[in-house]
Amino acid sequence: MPCKIAPSLLAADFLHLEESLMMINQSDADMLHLDIMDGVFVPNISFGFPVLEQAAKICTKPLDAHLMIVEPQKFIPEVKKLRAYMMNVHYEACMHLHRVIWEIKESGMKAGVTLNPHTPIELLEDIIQDIDMVLLMSVNPGFGGQKFINHSIEKVSRLKNMILQKNLNTWIEVDGGINMETGKALVDAGADILVTGSFVFNAANPLETIKKLKNL
Ligand code: DX5
Ligand code: ZN
Repeated sequence: MPCKIAPSLLAADFLHLEESLMMINQSDADMLHLDIMDGVFVPNISFGFPVLEQAAKICTKPLDAHLMIVEPQKFIPEVKKLRAYMMNVHYEACMHLHRVIWEIKESGMKAGVTLNPHTPIELLEDIIQDIDMVLLMSVNPGFGGQKFINHSIEKVSRLKNMILQKNLNTWIEVDGGINMETGKALVDAGADILVTGSFVFNAANPLETIKKLKNL
C-alpha cells in the first residue's frame, strides 16, 4: 500500500545542501522533514532558522518541522515564517500541550504531537481529537542513523486502533531507523508517513529508494 515519505534534511550533505534539496524536489517524496534540535531537549544541535530559511526558499515540497527543543511554543512564528505545513512538538516538552496545539493551528499550520519511545500512546487520549498527526519516535531523538526500536511496530498498531475507535483520521508518522524492512512492518501496522534520513541519503540511488519506500 502506498504511504507518504518525508526524507529528513538532517542526513543531507550540508556542503551541497542545494543539490540535496533539488534531489528532494525531483523525487516522489511527499514532504521534507526538518529536525530542529537545541542541545537541551536532545543531546545534539542540528541547524537553526537562518539555514532553514534558505532551504525553504528552494524546497518545493511541504515542510514537516520536528522541534526537538524545550519550549517549542516560542518558535511558532519562526516555523510559520518558513511556510511550514506541519509543526510537530514533543509531548514531553509541553507543559500546556493543548494551548500549544491551538497556537500552532491558529497560526495556520497543521499540528503534530511527537512521542519519545518511552512515552505511552495512551497519554494522547484527551488531545488526539485536536491534532492532525502523531509522530512516533522509533529511535531516541537527537541523531540520525540509529537502530530501529522494534517495539514501535506494536505501538503503531495500538495507536491506529485508538484513532479508528474514535472515528478520527489523524495521521501516524514514524521517525528513526527506517529502511525497507522496518518501513514495511510499520506501514502494515498502520503508519501513514515514514521519515527517512540515512537510508535515503546514503543510498546509491536516493530517487529510486524514495520510490521503493513509497510502494512498500
Ligand atoms: C532523530 C530525527 C530523525 C532522523 C532520522 O532525532 O528525528 O528524523 O533524522 O534519521 P534516520 O532515518 O537515519 O534514523
Ligand atoms: Zn525527526
